[in-house]
Amino acid sequence: MLLIMNVRVALCLLATVTAVIAQPLDPAKLDTMIEVLTRLGPEAVNANPKLKEVLGKVLVGTRGTPQFVQLVEQFKVADQNAGLLEVAAKHPVDEAGVTALRLVLASGDNATLSAALVGKDVPAATKLAEALGNTGAKQLPTLLLPLVPDASRDVNLRKQALRALARTQDGAAALLKLAREDKLPADLRFTATAELNAVRWPELKVEAAKLLPLPPGQGDQALPPVADLLAMKGDSKRGAEIFSRETVGCAKCHVVNGQGVDFGPALSEIGSKLPKVALLESILDPSAGISFGFEAWSVETKAGEEFFGLIVSETGEDLSVKTVGGAVTKVKKAELARRQQSKLSIMPAGLQQTMTVQELADLLEYLAALRKK
Ligand code: HEC
Repeated sequence: MLLIMNVRVALCLLATVTAVIAQPLDPAKLDTMIEVLTRLGPEAVNANPKLKEVLGKVLVGTRGTPQFVQLVEQFKVADQNAGLLEVAAKHPVDEAGVTALRLVLASGDNATLSAALVGKDVPAATKLAEALGNTGAKQLPTLLLPLVPDASRDVNLRKQALRALARTQDGAAALLKLAREDKLPADLRFTATAELNAVRWPELKVEAAKLLPLPPGQGDQALPPVADLLAMKGDSKRGAEIFSRETVGCAKCHVVNGQGVDFGPALSEIGSKLPKVALLESILDPSAGISFGFEAWSVETKAGEEFFGLIVSETGEDLSVKTVGGAVTKVKKAELARRQQSKLSIMPAGLQQTMTVQELADLLEYLAALRKK
């Protein structure tokens, strides 16, 4: 019956399933209505106001789902960008999300997309940046590059924007240009290094190796690409030994389950807080994202004493500085000559050079396994 359906028959059928077209849609009837509309095809539907009205209701009923995207595409419905962006943010790696973004990009309405990328819903914006990377669209640099150096934006959003950019040749080239001009912010350096050293365009790869070399491993040998490092299998038991090893020194600054020196943040549940790539970043580039409350300060007194450490408390009169090793010194503020916050973490860079690549993988495995019980 459906195969030979004409518009009049379809309208009758739709009228029975909707009872009265003016009523809101019964979700149970949605599939039937979609089928009827699909059989009629876009031309017939778009030529008939009543059918268009039904289509509008079906769109409301499918909002946020892959079906919504299919319908918008199939019936070439204009002005659905908000709904499309919703799906893209929900399904950034699925075909539906990527198609949704392609449709938004094809509509030429970059303003809605740009606004969503800097909108209040940061997790959704981050997913949108991810989905954008999967479209490989030529608009990527225009849309995402401004986010990268913008310190007022969420760091994870900026990292995602950077990763998306590195997926197209133009995007990767634009990032390298930032690096060349020394405009790449410190908190994104590790992500940029990891991504740009792994791009598939030989010339860009050569330039990345020059501008953003991966930090060296033991004996100044090059570390493998970050993706390979993360894919290595580690032994968390050996990782625990490395963590406490004198020459590596993690336990001299971090407590795990009651053991170690309480100086840097406790790491007993760090595997629940940070994914493996962020754990690696903490080791290879400690200054990239300094944890709140663990900023380094250098403090000098008028008597010429110098302290470098964390400010653990401050009153009207006194300042308490905790130095590496865990000792706390109270200094009278009246006796201060200078206090200055450092851009660098107190956690030293280069600790990966005290271990082999396999040991680094073991250490990562150990940290990743430190989880909330
Ligand atoms: C000299 C002291 C010191 C040493 C040694 C040290 N760290 Fe740290 N670490 C810190 C401080 C201080 C911070 C917080 C500031 C920052 O985030 O850079 C930190 C931060 C971290 C973080 C991020 C924690 C968070 O909550 O975000 C991880 C992970 C970490 N260190 C792991 C290690 C590992 C693994 C080692 C050994 C290879 C190590 N650290 C050695 C002082 C140290």
